[in-house]
Amino acid sequence: MKTTTALTLAQATMSMAAAVTTSAAAPTIHLCGDSTMASMSGAIQGWGQYLHYSFDPTRYTVLNSAIAGRSARSFTREGRFAAVLKLVQPGDWVVIEFGHNDGGGLGSKDNGRSDCYGAGNETCQTTYDGKAETVETYPTYLKQAGAAFLKAGAKLILSAPTPNDVWSDKGVYSWGPDRFAYYTMLAAEELGGIKAGVYFVPHGTYAAQALKALGSDVVHKNYPQDHTHTSPYLADVMAGAFVLGLTCGTSDLGKATLNSTAALSGTFLGGCISYNSTVPL
Ligand SMILES: *[C@@H]1O[C@H](CO)[C@@H](O)[C@H](O)[C@H]1NC(C)=O
Ligand SMILES: *[C@@H]1O[C@H](CO)[C@@H](O)[C@H](O)[C@H]1NC(C)=O
Ligand SMILES: *[C@@H]1O[C@H](CO)[C@@H](O)[C@H](O)[C@H]1NC(C)=O
Repeated sequence: MKTTTALTLAQATMSMAAAVTTSAAAPTIHLCGDSTMASMSGAIQGWGQYLHYSFDPTRYTVLNSAIAGRSARSFTREGRFAAVLKLVQPGDWVVIEFGHNDGGGLGSKDNGRSDCYGAGNETCQTTYDGKAETVETYPTYLKQAGAAFLKAGAKLILSAPTPNDVWSDKGVYSWGPDRFAYYTMLAAEELGGIKAGVYFVPHGTYAAQALKALGSDVVHKNYPQDHTHTSPYLADVMAGAFVLGLTCGTSDLGKATLNSTAALSGTFLGGCISYNSTVPL
């Protein structure tokens, strides 16, 4: 028995070493985001948990650093972008997607996560958790984090937030991109766009297209808790919508998915959505 255990352990150690060697050679796709992307438990799940199915595991490792309740501001203040930066190797990819927790107000209502309102370099002064804090805008937080990742040799995917339940108004479909979708696109442009290795994925638009095709019954029952957080099934749909948006774009990461644009477009996910040439897709 002892011998068998020792052998098994030795084998396990060897295969672990092999796995480490493989993943060290393969680029990592780092995910930064909120609960809609994060590893969750119970009836809800985040879409980041399903992304790895669309990549060859010997070529890409997906590391989901998204965490529930965060915004671009709190992910910055808590040092979470900095922690991901420490792991980033040249050739890696970083996907950033926020927006669900970035709205709301400052002042006495400050919850530590609302950004300063605006698309530019505006700042707001607040006190959070007993400390004075200069709050930046959403594009500023994305550009600060993005510039550091680029400097470390990574490429960037700035992704627009997922929609809330598009069918919530008594079976009537309703959705349009919010200001965070626009801010995300703007940040991608201002970081230098495609030439600088920065790509925008209109994830919300692709997700809304898929949710529209699925219909209100399927979509409703897959928001088990509220109108924001998805069941595992719908999280997989959100991952699919992201993968479609990625393959419809021009990034090398989009070319590296296991899925052709044609194969994805032949499903309920639908086809590529066109934008003008100023949008870095
Ligand atoms: C903020 O942005 C405006 C408009 O782009 C620019 O004129 C100004 O110099 C910027 N201010 C700072 C402090 O960067
Ligand atoms: C992409 O292809 C892989 C391998 O066939 C599959 O597991 C994955 O679900 C596909 N992704 C999407 C979004 O359909
Ligand atoms: C390009 O499309 C984006 C997104 O729809 C829009 O915000 C922008 O104004 C457009 N630019 C031009 C030059 O039409």
